[in-house]
Amino acid sequence: MADKVRLAVFISGSGTNLQSIIDNCTSGFIPGEVALVVSSKKDVYGLVRAEKAGIESVIYRRKSFPDGKIADDYLLDLLDKYKIDIIALAGYLKMVPPVVVARYRGRIVNIHPALLPKYSGKGMYGMSVHRAVIEAKEKESGVTIHAVDEVYDHGRILAREKAPVFPEDTPEELAARILKIEHTLYPKVIRELSEEILKAKRQ
Ligand code: GRF
Repeated sequence: MADKVRLAVFISGSGTNLQSIIDNCTSGFIPGEVALVVSSKKDVYGLVRAEKAGIESVIYRRKSFPDGKIADDYLLDLLDKYKIDIIALAGYLKMVPPVVVARYRGRIVNIHPALLPKYSGKGMYGMSVHRAVIEAKEKESGVTIHAVDEVYDHGRILAREKAPVFPEDTPEELAARILKIEHTLYPKVIRELSEEILKAKRQ
């Protein structure tokens, strides 16, 4: 009987959310383990975090495959090989192939550093989100965690938490305030989803 879910975390960068997920698995808050890290980029610090934690990682770049079908099949096989139950996107800058979304529907989640549906879509990632929020003179921003579907930043919202935006904020200051929330909110949502999956497996 399964007592832990197996997570794949998809990254493209420094991986502070990956770290918080790893730490919350280690502490037992999330009833799961990060079994695989998939990165769209090489030489990112998230890969170092994976290595330090003894987690296997793979660099996945669709361009390296002869065609899209082979790239899709490779990723599906990889997720099967590692018996992945949940995919958590954590700063992953690429679209997840629709075949993967279809197979993991309801079990694939993303974190966005703004209050969706605002400040979403193409180009809205990293500091550009916080810059746009500050330029629009918003008084609040925050974190949204949503299920992933075939449309960028679009699926069902699972959790949102607000953060104040102060007039003198720099994008970096706002990012830091929001990241702090991300590091507690994402593990909570992943914990809930993990518990649901474990419950379903036991039935
Ligand atoms: C986070 O702000 C997350 O919301 C967004 O990308 C950033 C990733 O940061 N999707 P990190 O790599 O987890 O530090």
